[in-house]
Amino acid sequence: MTVINTINELRECLAKHRAKGRTVGFVPTMGALHEGHASLVRRSVAENDITVVSIFLNPTQFNDPKDLERYPRTLDADCRVVEQCGADIAFAPTVKEVYPEPDTRQFSYPPTDAVMEGAMRPGHFNGVCQVVSKLFSYVEPDRVYLGEKDYQQIAVIRRMVDDLGFKVQIVPCPVVRQEDGLALSSRNSLLTDDERKTAANIYRILSESRTLGLSVQQTHDYVVDAINAIPGLEVQYFSIVDGDTLADVNSWDEATSTVGCITVFCGTKPIRLIDHIRYK
Ligand code: PAF
Repeated sequence: MTVINTINELRECLAKHRAKGRTVGFVPTMGALHEGHASLVRRSVAENDITVVSIFLNPTQFNDPKDLERYPRTLDADCRVVEQCGADIAFAPTVKEVYPEPDTRQFSYPPTDAVMEGAMRPGHFNGVCQVVSKLFSYVEPDRVYLGEKDYQQIAVIRRMVDDLGFKVQIVPCPVVRQEDGLALSSRNSLLTDDERKTAANIYRILSESRTLGLSVQQTHDYVVDAINAIPGLEVQYFSIVDGDTLADVNSWDEATSTVGCITVFCGTKPIRLIDHIRYK
């Protein structure tokens, strides 16, 4: 496994592989790799000749400077995970390398990027589109592997790929969970052991809500009330949406796929956790 820090070196290295007809799989990350990322890397390794993993904590997608400041930074350990999973290249550029000049491009894909995380974190998806479009232009991957944990992010990136005409296949990969159901996330490392146990109630309640035969509104209220009743958890939003457009739905028949997306504050710091459940 090679660690590459510059765009030129990455392009040169990939050009040699492409000249031999090799396919390139890509896993973009912000580091602090966990088993969820590892599952993406392993899948890319299985399905492509060459796998590139980017490790880049992208400042432009953080609307809250405190969130960026406390984001875990674990580059050495991350490179070990990339290597153990069999990937070929870890691309770990500096901020100056990716943004020699401030990126002033504006991406707008309503309603997909305007609702939920887009409404709560203004500029977040613009920053995601800025960095992902740059990374795609360096790597020119055949396939990109994205975790479904960030359900809305995949929907926004799909819109961007269609808009900019990137020739990349998006491969959404299932959420990896702890045994108790908590979705793996780099932010979990910021939780205490007790907070982690409390956080597992989020998916427990989401899963329960699927079995109750309630209407959309009743399901919404059930989830919000049950989670808010647990000390240490506070729902920021819970939206039941069309799985493709992410527009709100009012009945189960309204869309071909229906997903409940949730963000919950957990603990005293507090840490913002996101999760989702597929109803249909
Ligand atoms: O999901 C993430 O970790 C990031 O949003 C991504 C896609 C690597 C862009 O910085």
